[in-house]
Amino acid sequence: MTYSRIVGTGRYLPERIMTNADLEKIVDTSDEWIRTRTGVERRHVCAEDQTTSDMCIEAAKVAIEDAGISVSEIDMVITGTTTPDLIFPNISTIIQHKLGIPACTAFSLEAACTGFIYALTTADKFIKAGEVKCALVMGAECITKLVDWSDRNTCVLFGDGAGAVILKPSEEPGIISCHLGADGQYKDLLYYPVGASKDLATAGTAGAKIMMSGNEVFKVAVKTLGKIAMETLDDAGVSKEELDWLVPHQANIRIIQAMAKRLDMPMEKVIVTVQDHGNTSAASVPMALDVGIRDGRLKRGQLILMEAFGGGFTWGSVLMRL
Ligand code: UT7
Repeated sequence: MTYSRIVGTGRYLPERIMTNADLEKIVDTSDEWIRTRTGVERRHVCAEDQTTSDMCIEAAKVAIEDAGISVSEIDMVITGTTTPDLIFPNISTIIQHKLGIPACTAFSLEAACTGFIYALTTADKFIKAGEVKCALVMGAECITKLVDWSDRNTCVLFGDGAGAVILKPSEEPGIISCHLGADGQYKDLLYYPVGASKDLATAGTAGAKIMMSGNEVFKVAVKTLGKIAMETLDDAGVSKEELDWLVPHQANIRIIQAMAKRLDMPMEKVIVTVQDHGNTSAASVPMALDVGIRDGRLKRGQLILMEAFGGGFTWGSVLMRL
């Protein structure tokens, strides 16, 4: 059986860092509130003229070098993002062309914070089917461009960045098991009210901003992520004791701690970046993966569970050996 396996990773974070102290000057908040309720201490914010594809290209270059491949080998580009450069053409075509990747299958998909998990799962299927030999898979977001900097309920949470992986066929795992889910009944708990076919012309005047019922999102996130994590392990016939690492979506340290507890994992076995990155939506899992690999904690052959949850709601998990 052919598996797909991650053979290279990379990340890019914009230069500008906003600390909690910076936010104290803008809205009625405090470093103490932000740290204790979310775990966030600082976040990177993209420049005005910087786009999501700009960040993806930098992350992809690092991943390509890490994998030791040439761009000519890449035959699929998928980007999970809610904040593409343009409505069309899709962001993966921009990245493909600018990186000099030969014409290939290139598309983006939108699953809010679960975007990377959806993208990785999709690429895994193409590789297992034998249709793709080398996929560039990214999760990236300029989410701060959607943030209302006068809304303390949301502006303290988010940050920008891009994470990239190179996925290739392998005789050994590799990706073992993927689980995706979504339920649109929760749409009103977390959404952005403007889109290509809804209120785009009046976006500026309508004061569009991220709408979130944080507390309710929190509760469903903890419940759903716990359930899907156990389903993923059961499906693969793996016990939670066998897991080496949890690489979770970085929305809130309290959600991450709840997941670790559910899996009986000490926090020493969890990659946490929320303090430095904030919630970077689709970028958070691939960036956390890259952080863990580059600082030497995540090692070849180890069993890793990645999971994410976001607007929709959407959710997903991937169990893999590195
Ligand atoms: O990534 C996609 C999925 N997203 C998530 O998973 C986010 C899930 N939700 C959360 O992480 C948390 O619900 C938040 C961090 C968003 C909020 O934390 P919370 O503990 O649920 O707080 P809350 O919304 O219940 O608000 C508690 C209080 C309120 O004041 P009152 O009404 O009790 O007087 C808020 O107005 O905290 C207040 N508050 C703030 N205070 C200082 C809300 N934001 C702030 C702030 N600074 N930035």
